[in-house]
Amino acid sequence: MHKNPANRQGFFVLKSLFLALKIYIMYETILTLHSYLAYIVLTILILAVVNAISGLIGNKLFTLTKDFRLSLFALILTHIQLTIGLILYFVSPKGFNAIQELGMGGLTPLARLVAVEHPFINIIAVVLITIGWSKHKKVMEAKRKFKLISIFYGLGLLFLFSRMPWAQWLN
Ligand code: HEM
Repeated sequence: MHKNPANRQGFFVLKSLFLALKIYIMYETILTLHSYLAYIVLTILILAVVNAISGLIGNKLFTLTKDFRLSLFALILTHIQLTIGLILYFVSPKGFNAIQELGMGGLTPLARLVAVEHPFINIIAVVLITIGWSKHKKVMEAKRKFKLISIFYGLGLLFLFSRMPWAQWLN
């Protein structure tokens, strides 16, 4: 079918264009998902931290219906966001591709924030939140549970806030 070299070349150009279009659509979809889910993730994390601090200060009981569920939802949503972020990193022109094209030294501070600092610090934040979750499950006392959630989720939240591409996101 593609015996003629010109035909074959045309076929490959078309195929590459089609692939580029597919990656672009995938990129746009994943970026939109990552962007909107960020509101939900940050909100539920704030709720989980405020709830844990209030439980700690108020010497409250750690309930399965509220406290456990809220911390679990925050953990699950953070992990979903992490997974989407990892995919985004490889389809976005501002993620791994930016480092490949410009090299670490060629990145502007804003480009470095998105390509290096945001992914790196956010992975650490998710690790902290996961450690807090697994540690809180191992203790029985309500006060200690609230304390662990407050510290680890709180630190994770601070890390997330510190390396968010605010200007790009809220524009
Ligand atoms: C887990 C918490 C995370 C939150 C709350 C979060 C939030 C955000 C937000 C709000 C943006 C800006 C979106 C926009 O401009 O509309 C963004 C961009 C981005 N995030 Fe995340 N992110 C998280 C984790 C990650 C991780 C773990 C990675 C990669 C390993 C990642 C990779 C990226 C990339 C590459 C962009 C830039 C995409 C582009 O503009 O083309 N994110 N993130």
